[in-house]
Amino acid sequence: MIGVLVSGRGSNLQALLDQGLPVVAVASNRNDAYALVRARAAGVPTATFSLDCHADRAERDLVMSTWLEEHGVDLVVLAGYMHLLTKPFLDRFPGRVVNVHPSLLPAFPGLNAIQAALDAGVETTGITVHLVDEGLDTGPVLAQEALPLEPRETLEERIHAVEHRLLPTVVRAMIHACAP
Ligand code: GRF
Repeated sequence: MIGVLVSGRGSNLQALLDQGLPVVAVASNRNDAYALVRARAAGVPTATFSLDCHADRAERDLVMSTWLEEHGVDLVVLAGYMHLLTKPFLDRFPGRVVNVHPSLLPAFPGLNAIQAALDAGVETTGITVHLVDEGLDTGPVLAQEALPLEPRETLEERIHAVEHRLLPTVVRAMIHACAP
């Protein structure tokens, strides 16, 4: 069962939902994330775990991981989630937290990766799906797909189109890998 963490518009969450993957809980650090509207429209339980309501990130992550577990989550997908996760959270789901990132990691980690590739003028960029560790986009790579930077006008649109195909593909494979 999949739990998805979101902070923004939620197009990758929508791709998982549209492909019929078993998303049973959606959590956010922001209560104004449009992704939460998408989750509710699909009848998926949502919750917001704001840092303002907790002593620190580790405590927030512990409470969030408990909520996910209570909903039967055994695979966590970060779909535009903008906070790093702490050890207490990662220890609850060892090897079972996945992120999608709009570059060919280790190139251009962090925020604004698409713009960073455009600014650097590289010929090729792409998409990475990887396991999450405590670092910034540093975990082991599960899948990558390259894209030419040009035409730059359509780069963002092309990247999102690949994300919406690659992330559900990897997630589906991980679900089947742990099926009895
Ligand atoms: C995606 O580009 C993803 O790769 C990055 O954040 C963006 C989230 O978009 N981590 P959305 O919220 O899924 O539309």
